[in-house]
This record gives sequence, C-alpha cells and structure tokens, in this order.
Amino acid sequence: MILSGNAKLAGVVGWPVNHSKSPRLHGFWLEQYKIDGTYVPLAIKPEDFESAIRGLQKSGFKGVNVTVPHKESALKIADKVSARAEKIGAANTLVFQEDGSIFADNTDGFGFYENLKQGAVDWQADAGPAVVLGAGGAARAVIVALAEAGVPEIRLTNRTRARAENLAAELDAPITVVDWEDRNAALEDCNLLTNTTTLGMHGQGLLEIDLFDLPKTALVNDIVYVPLMTNLLEKAHAHGCPIVDGIGMLLHQARPGFEAWFGTDPQVTDELRQFVLAD
Ligand code: ATR
Repeated sequence: MILSGNAKLAGVVGWPVNHSKSPRLHGFWLEQYKIDGTYVPLAIKPEDFESAIRGLQKSGFKGVNVTVPHKESALKIADKVSARAEKIGAANTLVFQEDGSIFADNTDGFGFYENLKQGAVDWQADAGPAVVLGAGGAARAVIVALAEAGVPEIRLTNRTRARAENLAAELDAPITVVDWEDRNAALEDCNLLTNTTTLGMHGQGLLEIDLFDLPKTALVNDIVYVPLMTNLLEKAHAHGCPIVDGIGMLLHQARPGFEAWFGTDPQVTDELRQFVLAD
C-alpha cells in the first residue's frame, strides 16, 4: 500500500478493537479497487470517544465504523441520523460530511438482509412468518430489517421474555412474543428461522432446538460465524432446509461505509469470504 497526499482515511473505533475483522475486510477492497486510501483500527476508551471522533474529523478522516462499546454514543454525537439507525437506537457507521457535520447510520440490518438475498436468491421475505431467536442488539437490527422487507409476522423468542416484550413495545414491527420453552412449536409454518443469540458460538453453549415442525422450505440463518457451520445450520441442513451462514452479514454491513468514504459500492465475493475467514 502506497498512499499519496490525497489518500482517503477511514477506520474502526472500538475498545478493544484488536478482534475486529474490519481492517482486513476494507483493506481487501482497497487493494481490489486500487483506491488511494487506508482503513485503520483505532482503540479508543469510552471516556475519550467524543474527543477522538472530533480529532479524527479535524484530521481529515472521511468517517469511521463504530463497534462495542461506542454504538450508542455514536448515535448521540451525530448531527443527522438515518431512519434505520434511529429505529435500532445505535450506529455502526459515521460519515464526516464536507460541511463539518456528522451523519450516523446503522448498516447491521442491511447487512443481514443483503446476506439472505445473496445466499438464497429465491427466498421471499413476505411469503410467511419469521422466527427470531434472541432479543439483544443484533436482534433489533434484524427485526427492523425484516419488518422493512415485508415479513408479515415475527415470532420473537428469548430466554429472558421481558427483553423480547420490550422490543415488541419499542419497535414498529409485527412481533408476537413466544416463550423460550415454546420455541420448537413456533417453527410451524414459518418461512425463516434466524438465530441472533450467542448460542452456538465457539466457547458458548449449543443452541438446543428441535426442527421437527419446521417446513423444509424455510430458510435457516445464523448470525454466529465462529464456527461458520453452527450446530443450528448443521441440523437445518440435515432436515433439508436451505441455509445461509453468518459471515455475509459482516461483509455486507461494511458496504455502505466503504461507498460513502471511498466512492465505490464494493462486491461481496467468495474470494473475500475466504480471505476474511482465513484470519
Ligand atoms: P447482542 O447485542 O450481540 O445481540 P446481547 O445483547 O448480549 O448481544 O444478547 C445476547 C442474546 O443471546 C440474548 O438474546 C441472550 O438472551 P438473554 O436476553 O436472556 O440474556 C441470548 N443468550 C445468551 N446466552 C444464552 C443462553 N445460555 N441461553 C439462551 N439465550 C442466551
């Protein structure tokens, strides 16, 4: 990588940030599209978040991705917020505008939905109910994206029922809250099953679910991607369902930021998937 004096600068702000795959991902695209620019990891403590962001802005950065624990703070310091970031209540992408203002977006739901579209081209969001497992931050983005895509009913189930009820009350989405104990029966007639919990992730517990009532036409997705083939996806594949793994959500969520900072809507290819997974 050789930069000119006009190089475009962006990065990812987190605390810690060393686990982030974003520098590798954006670095791949910068090479691929031969862009005069760079994307760097920025470890910023929570108490330094605002001053660091103002400093980056003054230093000529085009913007940054924002990860844990800064996603809510990012929304607060923005002058303008996208409708989806507003609904989700958190931002993962900041764009520093020419006029000195900050635009905040949340591209997690976009990444989730684009991943489904790319991985299952025939799947139709409006063809039937979706079952969403989990009610954390990831579930918020997923639910907002599904409602926007026209899913007629979202059966939301979470170990802590109150969190699911809070989401149902806060989000403008056709949510039916289902007890965690009743998750197997909720699969009847559904068109999508997606796991937004941490269950199935390397080092966490396994997701216990019985897919007997799940139609074989239903698409099954996991947002966990370590391992890529989670126990849920293995079970779904054995059951005969189409499956979409979770790495594509990470890759697609990065596209709007890359386009805003570097001027190209980048492609998510198999080569990129392999490169990011090889880390
Ligand atoms: P994120 O913001 O990444 O979604 P989170 O807010 O910590 O992360 O949410 C994690 C999700 O995994 C929650 O839905 C959590 O359920 P609770 O709300 O009951 O905590 C779910 N989860 C984590 N461990 C679980 C377990 N052992 N059994 C069932 N659900 C679990």
